[in-house]
Amino acid sequence: MKEESFTKHYDYVVMGSGLHHGPSMPMWEGAEDFQKAGGTLIHSAKFRKADDYKDQNVVVVGGGESASDIAWLTSKTCTKMTISMRSAPGTLFPHNINGNTADIRDSRLMYSFPRKVWPLVLKGHKLFYENIEHEDNEARQEAFKFAAKMNWENRNCIYTINACKSFGIPKAVCFNKAEIKPMICHFEGRNIHFVDGSVVENVDTVVAATGFKVDIPALKDDELKIKYSHPRHLWNNMVAVDEKEFFVVGFCRPHQINLITCCEMQARTLSQIISGKKSFPSDESMKKDIEYAIEHMSNTFERGYKALVDFVPFNDNMANFIGCAPNLLKLLFTDFPMFVHMVFAPIQPCQYRLVGPGAIPELSRKTIMKSPYYRWPKERIARDFNAVMILLSTSFADVCGVNGKFFHVQGQLRPVFRFFAFVTLSLLAASWYYEMRVVFFPLSALLLTFMLAIRSAMDPESFLKEDGAKSLFSLIKMTQFETK
Ligand SMILES: Cc1cc2nc3c(=O)[nH]c(=O)nc-3n(C[C@H](O)[C@H](O)[C@H](O)COP(=O)(O)OP(=O)(O)OC[C@H]3O[C@@H](n4cnc5c(N)ncnc54)[C@H](O)[C@@H]3O)c2cc1C
Ligand SMILES: NC(=O)c1ccc[n+]([C@@H]2O[C@H](COP(=O)([O-])OP(=O)(O)OC[C@H]3O[C@@H](n4cnc5c(N)ncnc54)[C@H](OP(=O)(O)O)[C@@H]3O)[C@@H](O)[C@H]2O)c1
Repeated sequence: MKEESFTKHYDYVVMGSGLHHGPSMPMWEGAEDFQKAGGTLIHSAKFRKADDYKDQNVVVVGGGESASDIAWLTSKTCTKMTISMRSAPGTLFPHNINGNTADIRDSRLMYSFPRKVWPLVLKGHKLFYENIEHEDNEARQEAFKFAAKMNWENRNCIYTINACKSFGIPKAVCFNKAEIKPMICHFEGRNIHFVDGSVVENVDTVVAATGFKVDIPALKDDELKIKYSHPRHLWNNMVAVDEKEFFVVGFCRPHQINLITCCEMQARTLSQIISGKKSFPSDESMKKDIEYAIEHMSNTFERGYKALVDFVPFNDNMANFIGCAPNLLKLLFTDFPMFVHMVFAPIQPCQYRLVGPGAIPELSRKTIMKSPYYRWPKERIARDFNAVMILLSTSFADVCGVNGKFFHVQGQLRPVFRFFAFVTLSLLAASWYYEMRVVFFPLSALLLTFMLAIRSAMDPESFLKEDGAKSLFSLIKMTQFETK
């Protein structure tokens, strides 16, 4: 094909060129000699199939999803697998638990917690993982315990860091005896030295699953490149306040759930603007949105991907701008069955297609009503009950206006829980006034228990000490029900 260059004026440019460009390859001392001595050193981008490393001594470097997948697949056929990690992986989250896909637990309810209560969730996950019984599979049992320990020690949960969903690292360790090592220090011939002083000898292959460069190579203008180098400094991870004709889409990675919804919401937002149906907010208000997002993320998600976003607030904010946010308070009264599915079943992107531009209400409702629940009714009821009580308890502070900036229910569920908090407070006042002790005392005790639990979780260090957590009533223990 003949290449031709020309200049043409466009009103807007939208880049969907992908977040990652070019492998990020560490420079290890002795790496060249390792290859000269017959060792193979590749980046994960060049990894094709595990069989290529059959009967070999393999070191996989990294703790991301590439490392996780490659370590698990390769550990099935190689003779020795070592996983070298500079820092802990993201939240280890299984794809599948006894026939239930993990995604099925990704409800709006669970992702609406004020992020400050993350220690409660971390503790809940730990107990849940430790107590799941896997049908006659000891290795699987061990893999879940390993994941619980890793998440616990690194303070990793769905509100603190992106997930490492493949569960490959726990499986490689517990099924195929992979060994975990810290960072590589240097190579010496075919031997690899790690920073803790340990050595793995006679290594055949090193797979550096060390990620990719976050870049937009097509951008030649340095100023523009710098402006767009940190997605979180863009309005909705998409556009700089002073470059309103240039958008990037897809520079957002949710901690869980899916990227596609985020990209779709970005595309819908920008198409509203480009088509002239909506205008940008004022510069001041765009800057405030950006500052809020940065502060929100740094409050809990201080680690993780550069383009990390918090799924529910990220998408709900754009939905509010577009005018397609589901009004859950209204749906509570007008379409209760759908409300229940939208809150307790997995989040479906068609929640944003019920109203506003591009709405397909009937098809969306039909799809939402088909959302599956996971099995294990007891665990589900316990988890959802705990979640509702935590959201309700934090909403009292919200209704009374005494909550901190980031201590409120996230996204479209906030008005619903503010409403219930108001009703509950009214009920408490009425039962006190009319001396209805059977209502007043049990309800107060229940709420007080949850409020104390939340208060103790506000001090993560003491809360996460085993002893501190013991005092925590059955709030967390209730997640330990049958799971088969
Ligand atoms: C092994 C692996 C597994 C993954 N698994 C998942 C997963 O399960 N779920 C998930 O959500 N994500 C997964 N990801 C992440 C995945 O990369 C993204 O979800 C998704 O591909 C991002 O889509 P995108 O359109 O933003 O970018 P890309 O898929 O990278 O697409 C960008 C496109 O732009 C083109 N392009 C780039 N520069 C230019 C230019 N200058 N001019 C014209 N065209 C250009 C590229 O050729 C490419 O076609 C995985 C990634 C890897 C590496
Ligand atoms: N199954 C899947 O869904 C799947 C599979 C593969 C990839 N993906 C996606 O593809 C994208 C890229 O994933 P990825 O795993 O390739 O990259 P990644 O998520 O960026 O992970 C890179 C890993 O390498 C480590 N690392 C980086 N530089 C290092 C160095 N110099 N020395 C030692 N360790 C180093 C990082 O540690 P630090 O944390 O310390 O930086 C991190 O653990 C992600 O969006 C991911 O979700 C998805």
